Amino acid sequence: MKNVLIIGSTGQIGSELTLKLRKEIPGSTVVAGFIKGYEPKGELLESGPAEDVDVRDGKRISEIVRKYRIDTVYNLAALLSAVAEKKPLMAWDIQMNGLLAILEVAREEGCAVFTPSSIGSFGPETPHVMTPQDTIQRPRSMYGVTKVATELLSDYYFHKFGVDTRSVRFPGLISHMTLPGGGTTDYAVEIYYAAVKGEEFVCPIAAGTFMDMMYMPDALKAAVQIMEADPSRLVHRNSFNIASMSFDPEIISAKVRELVPGFRMHYEVDPVRQAIASSWPDSMDDSCAREEWGWAPSFDIDTMSKDMIEHLRARFSGQ
Ligand code: SER
Repeated sequence: MKNVLIIGSTGQIGSELTLKLRKEIPGSTVVAGFIKGYEPKGELLESGPAEDVDVRDGKRISEIVRKYRIDTVYNLAALLSAVAEKKPLMAWDIQMNGLLAILEVAREEGCAVFTPSSIGSFGPETPHVMTPQDTIQRPRSMYGVTKVATELLSDYYFHKFGVDTRSVRFPGLISHMTLPGGGTTDYAVEIYYAAVKGEEFVCPIAAGTFMDMMYMPDALKAAVQIMEADPSRLVHRNSFNIASMSFDPEIISAKVRELVPGFRMHYEVDPVRQAIASSWPDSMDDSCAREEWGWAPSFDIDTMSKDMIEHLRARFSGQ
């Protein structure tokens, strides 16, 4: 991995992954691809090249790949689960036609492609506790349908055309830099913001609903490690379960209260998000990722919570 195009560079994952790769790959060019209306700002804009690109526009992707001699594309453009339920056709269009456009360019230009999958690729019939790597994937949300289709299409391009496609199934991602937009797991980010701002948190997910979650530094580490893994060791490709922690709203609110005494939360369950959350795994078995490319997370709920609160306190006290 040397010259990288990040499509969706101003989103929750892209904004941090772009900066990380620019710092960590010596002599690299990391292009921040963005959609008009979501232009990069500040360090993201100043630290490297940026190009507007609609993920569905293969011609434009091809131009950028040739201009910067791109060898790896991170395909991070997507509508998250709750938004995708409101706009299912748009979610299909962006997730599937976008992926197809990228894979065709990758086939012609010889690029590797990372497209994240998710806990959302599982459904109600999936074994919920320690969900195995290879198991039933019958999601009922449009987000999940596109994630399963993404996994299959990426594997198809690998087996049929030899395109180097790789992926991980992200848990809910928690970060303090860029907010997620319209996911089912967003509550686990918003709870920290509410606590630091001294607000009571209204939780849209019911007590007792467990989901896998991960702190952003671990997610970024996984996204880089999987693309650098020795291909001869990969039995799987699209996509690997990865895990670091699993909790329900009661557990995370108790953690937050340890760090922000007096923090208060009450429940107003959102039926759309709750139906999605109930269909997702409680916890995933990530042993294949550990064996095939050495995956190991660094953060647990204690170290993550401490780091989140510290960063958000520093941000909000500076305003
Ligand atoms: N964080 C995503 C969502 O909630 C799941 O991958 O939609």
